[in-house]
Amino acid sequence: MKLVPGPASMELANKVSSILGLRLMELEYKTFPDGESYFRYVSSVENEDVVIFQGTHPPQDKHLLQLCLLSSGAKDLGARSVVAVIPYLAYAKQDRRFKEGEVVSIDVVLNILKQSGVDKILTVNIHAPWIINRSPIPIENLDAVGTLTSYILQINLKNPIILAPGKKGEDMSAAAAKVLNADYGVIRTKRDVNTGAVEVSLEDINVNDRDVIVIDDMISTGGTMVKSVNTLKSAGARRIFVGCVHAVMINNADKKILSSGADAIVATDTVPNNYAFVSIAGLLAERLRKL
Ligand code: R5P
Repeated sequence: MKLVPGPASMELANKVSSILGLRLMELEYKTFPDGESYFRYVSSVENEDVVIFQGTHPPQDKHLLQLCLLSSGAKDLGARSVVAVIPYLAYAKQDRRFKEGEVVSIDVVLNILKQSGVDKILTVNIHAPWIINRSPIPIENLDAVGTLTSYILQINLKNPIILAPGKKGEDMSAAAAKVLNADYGVIRTKRDVNTGAVEVSLEDINVNDRDVIVIDDMISTGGTMVKSVNTLKSAGARRIFVGCVHAVMINNADKKILSSGADAIVATDTVPNNYAFVSIAGLLAERLRKL
């Protein structure tokens, strides 16, 4: 197995290679003055099973095309198989036509990856797990919520409750609550398909004088989390800890969350970010070892 560090996920690739005790492949990479990417495999990939680490966090389109170049290039040079480790898989939010005439982006992206020679995708907390069944490429979806929550065990919590927003909220908060041996619940969300603005409600959950841990698969603009923190504060929450797997953090989302009253943010390193106190390298290494 040959591990290839794509430019978007070099640090993570390094961590996985140390855990596995396998050296990373040497890859020559540069950006031309006009912005185009150049790659050269310095040693042979002929007949090799190649594992390319390349997240598709912002700039999504650039990272995606780099992955296509690396995968297609490896196959062209005779690689036997390509596994793409995509810790954060972009475009999974457009998993259907919410409005007539919309392009179902994730289907297009998966088809492009297939055409580029990707034989298997290893990803983490995919935004829309239901697309796995219709994907033209086998997708393995690792769950980092347990790993993320283990970190929170270090905090001395008072009467904690774990909450998670949205459709996947119940599964996520239940998984986290198991680790923390705490209560859990769902923050109901309603998103406007035109503006993207989100409304949240706690329904009958009592958070008064309790420490609350809000877990989400991703924080993008921070809109959902800011609304959640504001609502929890108004409902009397004592301290609020925010945890997410994918800290995409667009437009100072982190600062908005902290200034709305969250006590701390904890994230994984699927996307390079300042709150990556938890690494998914162990999870990935364990899975790759079995391949
Ligand atoms: C929704 O399904 C997700 O779990 C997140 O809550 C959402 O993607 C966060 O987006 P934003 O940070 O832009 O509100």
